[in-house]
Amino acid sequence: MTTATTSKTTTAADPLALIDVDHVRFYVGNAKQAAYFYANTFGFDITAFQDLTTSTMPGGKRDEAAYLLTQGNIRLVVTSGLTPTHEINKEVTRFGDGVKDVSLTVHDAEAAYQRAIANGGESAYEPYTVEDEHGSVTRAGIKTYGRVVHTFTSRAGGYSLEHMKNNDAFLPGFIKMPDIALNRFNKANPCGLKYVDHLVGNVEEGQMNVWVDWYEKVLEFKMFKHFDDADISTEYSALMSKVMASGNNLIKMPINEPADGKKKSQILEYLEWHDMTAGVQHLALRTDDELHSVAALRNRGVDFLNIPDSYYETVWKRVESLGWEVKEDHQKVKDLGILIDADDEGYLLQLFTKPLQDRPTLFFEIITRRGSQSFGKGNFKALFEALELEQEKRGNL
Ligand code: FE2
Repeated sequence: MTTATTSKTTTAADPLALIDVDHVRFYVGNAKQAAYFYANTFGFDITAFQDLTTSTMPGGKRDEAAYLLTQGNIRLVVTSGLTPTHEINKEVTRFGDGVKDVSLTVHDAEAAYQRAIANGGESAYEPYTVEDEHGSVTRAGIKTYGRVVHTFTSRAGGYSLEHMKNNDAFLPGFIKMPDIALNRFNKANPCGLKYVDHLVGNVEEGQMNVWVDWYEKVLEFKMFKHFDDADISTEYSALMSKVMASGNNLIKMPINEPADGKKKSQILEYLEWHDMTAGVQHLALRTDDELHSVAALRNRGVDFLNIPDSYYETVWKRVESLGWEVKEDHQKVKDLGILIDADDEGYLLQLFTKPLQDRPTLFFEIITRRGSQSFGKGNFKALFEALELEQEKRGNL
């Protein structure tokens, strides 16, 4: 047992100073199987779990099962309810599998919660602390858009951020996964995903500015970039998007709303398959080597959007005209179907998966930044045209 901790004793003057993205929790229909999907296809280790066998431990539960998936500094938790009336099962019925909680590590979860409530935030649940022989974790939740919650998490003792990053301990009630073949395979065949670059929410039409104000006021974020619907539109569909960022730019959270188009926008399609309720549209996972990561993920069977060949006829010149030369092998970029965009700070490589579940809702983006701090505005047209082909196949355009 270790007693080293800094998280409780170095409470920052600013209670909403974010230290890390603690984890992103998904509500799913079958956590055991979902864990194997993300481990197999995206190369996450199954690091810890909570199920009936751990239910008598402090923090244990008899009505939930959960698996912690880790890769680099990314932590996803897939959780299922085990009883017919469990809140998770009700949400899964309404929304399918998806993101419930974007948890943020802070110095003092109770102080962060009180500050957010004083700023006008609405409570999801009140602060509570769970302790065991390793240490303690304090958590408190506020409601953000739609069905999504932000949990403030502060950690002490064996549950400190450093220990969690080292995969020693996650939360009371979870135990470490024993050595399994899948984790050994992932160690030998890494996908190179490092951290959550940004996390995008879709909100209802007319609600984008409401939630932009909410992030400014309640979480004390700042606006990072702004695109209007003239920037992000194709012949048939459109959206509006504003990017909110925490004070230290630790997390960037673009917020989208549908805009008018001749046909249905991808944002409206998401909402219609999400009980007309706002939610997380995609998580962008950062890698230093886009070609390696996309090749590894394709080998594992990740289903990415198909980018038309014609895209590569113009993309190199578009990036060059902004003063950058793409260092990655152009033929490999094309063969792997990777998108490229540039701004005045550099370029980026990105690619989007198809939906991660049968409903056309949550997906992942795999992104590498070569100086560019934007989000692929120049690819929106190419992306939307590719997305619309998929929408058309589903009869949703
Ligand atoms: Fe993105």
